[in-house]
Amino acid sequence: MPLIEAVNISHSFDYPLFKDINFSLHESESISITGVSGSGKSTLMHICSTMLKPNSGVVKLFNQDIYSLNQKELIKIRREKLGIIFQAHYLFRGLSAYENLELSTILTKNSIDDDLLERFKIKKVMSQKIGELSGGQQQRVSIARVLTKKPKIIFADEPTGNLDEETANEVMDILFDYIKEVQGVLFLVTHEKSLAQRCKYHRDLKEV
Ligand SMILES: Nc1ncnc2c1ncn2[C@@H]1O[C@H](COP(=O)(O)OP(=O)(O)O)[C@@H](O)[C@H]1O
Ligand SMILES: [Mg+2]
Repeated sequence: MPLIEAVNISHSFDYPLFKDINFSLHESESISITGVSGSGKSTLMHICSTMLKPNSGVVKLFNQDIYSLNQKELIKIRREKLGIIFQAHYLFRGLSAYENLELSTILTKNSIDDDLLERFKIKKVMSQKIGELSGGQQQRVSIARVLTKKPKIIFADEPTGNLDEETANEVMDILFDYIKEVQGVLFLVTHEKSLAQRCKYHRDLKEV
């Protein structure tokens, strides 16, 4: 059973973005989505991650047609099973890095994984306020926060866009290791070819 299955997804806003997108991801698999700015990469991610109902097509997560569920059921899946990483993170600036991670453990009853903090090289800065951290440190904290929930499906929209190349590679290594470890899947939006090639599947969104 695939963890994600997209069947004939099409969507338009002011103009058609994409048509009949099909893919499915099984345990430990990944897909990368590339395309020029405005081609609909983020929109496709929103559609696949319960945030936006497509004009046509079906999205199944864990074998459930998500847009046939009610709002409460959708929120439960999103909260417990999906990890969504954006380029701009949504950390609470006034709280410490540690407190930001604690918030996600409260919702999901998981604990903070010390090993993860070591791997992200953020263990030493956990007591500092978010506003005191560098951009790269903030992004690593925000990804660590998402993984702290132990989600089965990771959606990442240009997650390493504001990291230097070396840090970006380290962060991606952790994400690829993570999906193997928990037998999850990764849906990755990126404009970096070398990164896109690390995924098992790849789609480029071209003009319709
Ligand atoms: N909620 C929305 N309402 C109307 N137009 C939107 C909305 N979201 C995105 N768009 C438009 O859809 C197009 C694709 O956007 P997006 O999916 O963000 O592209 P990408 O991530 O590939 O840069 C853009 O032209 C954008 O302005
Ligand atoms: Mg985008």
